[in-house]
Amino acid sequence: MEILAPQQIILGRMDDVGTAFDILKEMITTIGRPQIKDKKEIYQLFEITIKNAFEQQGAGSNHAHLAEEINHKIGLLDNDFQSQGKKVYFLVAKVDSQIAGTIALTEPSKLVRDHIHFDLKNIPEVAAVYVLPQFQGQGVGSLLLKRIIEHLQKTRIKSFILDSGFKKAQKFWIKKLGEPTLILKDYWKKDSHHMIWKKQTSKCA
Ligand SMILES: CC(C)(COP(=O)(O)OP(=O)(O)OC[C@H]1O[C@@H](n2cnc3c(N)ncnc32)[C@H](O)[C@@H]1OP(=O)(O)O)[C@@H](O)C(=O)NCCC(=O)NCCS
Repeated sequence: MEILAPQQIILGRMDDVGTAFDILKEMITTIGRPQIKDKKEIYQLFEITIKNAFEQQGAGSNHAHLAEEINHKIGLLDNDFQSQGKKVYFLVAKVDSQIAGTIALTEPSKLVRDHIHFDLKNIPEVAAVYVLPQFQGQGVGSLLLKRIIEHLQKTRIKSFILDSGFKKAQKFWIKKLGEPTLILKDYWKKDSHHMIWKKQTSKCA
């Protein structure tokens, strides 16, 4: 388990005989492998986070791809449990005891395989990077990315692929990985592009 620098947050405010005071609590973020007992909580995380990302994208929560996307991520997690991390490898972030985010290594998706025309053998895709809305912008996604890259470095995997169709997430990825290797212009609709990165593991922090 890896520990992120504790953050102080205000949990509540009590008014006691006219005097208000704050209850401060240190929140600890840990990164580790998912446990079977966490399965339902992670399914819920996929549902909440993916729905929220679709809404922010302006795609609406009834978008045809929404259920497909959630079910795909559930399938990936099940595949991790069934293969004991050999076919799909997840890491989860816990803030205190709550699961706040996920990241996974898997085979490149069909979308990637259809558009990237070099050999993708031994090149995993970094996928299912989801942080619950209330934990976004607090460094959880960055820590998950850092830990998965460290895992790739330890297992001597030289490159990885990552793709994103969400506009907000694309800004995060550009900040983290630089300009994309490939931009599929107007892929989803006008001005809604899909971006694909191929990165060398050694060149990532
Ligand atoms: C995209 C996502 C994984 C990022 O994780 P996060 O925990 O919110 O990001 P962090 O707090 O680690 O942010 C790291 C940095 O990126 C920046 N950043 C995060 N989201 C950003 C955004 N939408 N636009 C610009 N910068 C952004 C932060 O300001 C921060 O910068 P800093 O390191 O200079 O302080 C998360 O917001 C998320 O789950 N979004 C919804 C689902 C999604 O789109 N997933 C990705 C699918 S490809």
